[in-house]
Amino acid sequence: MNEFGENVIILDHPLITHKISILRDKNTGTNEFRQLVEEIAMLMGFVALSDLPMTKMPVETPIEKTETLVIAGRKLAIVPILRAGLGMVSGLTALVPSAKIGHIGLYRDETTHNPVEYFCKLPNPIEERIIVVCDPMLATGGSGVDAISQIKKHGGKKIKFVCIIAAPEGVKKLHEAHPDVQIYVGNLDRELNENAYICPGLGDAGDRIFGTK
Ligand code: PRP
Ligand code: URA
Repeated sequence: MNEFGENVIILDHPLITHKISILRDKNTGTNEFRQLVEEIAMLMGFVALSDLPMTKMPVETPIEKTETLVIAGRKLAIVPILRAGLGMVSGLTALVPSAKIGHIGLYRDETTHNPVEYFCKLPNPIEERIIVVCDPMLATGGSGVDAISQIKKHGGKKIKFVCIIAAPEGVKKLHEAHPDVQIYVGNLDRELNENAYICPGLGDAGDRIFGTK
């Protein structure tokens, strides 16, 4: 357990941390960056989805008839926060190809650092689904808090948040606003700087994934 409590899971897994270290390098190019974000999302999804509900299914092996377990229903929704969250979708859907995908469009105002909403489209109905919100960066926490509030307004209840790098400030804010949400963090960084960028961080995730600057 960590200082934030049991709903904040900081992975610090060697395989994930190694890939994040390459992401951090300012000399890592767009192509490799994108590939690594996808791979990290898959590794993190493997952990974040370890409590998916299972149901029994009859099967006949070459040896005998038996009962085995499969994932219950088609009940998963993956919701990237635009833009950077899009980079994590392929890694997560590789694990659960039947998942539905919603989108929440938010950007941070450059001066206030507050999130500005511009899009929200979620799979319907959302109430019964396990919802995995993904965004590589949890900085002030404003975008994460806002995205989850929107999902709850639409009826979402079982929500997980998966981010590659977080600042302590963002984890605290998100956890306090939505204590029911499980927050999965790849690496927890030191702090935010005066521009609300994560230190040491990796810079602007959206720009690095999409090659904009
Ligand atoms: C980045 C990032 C998060 C947000 C995190 O997005 O992908 O969504 O900032 O910051 P916060 O925790 O302080 O809200 P950005 O606003 O740069 O938009 P983009 O993904 O379109 O580049
Ligand atoms: N958004 C990013 O992409 N990077 C940060 O460090 C903070 C917010």
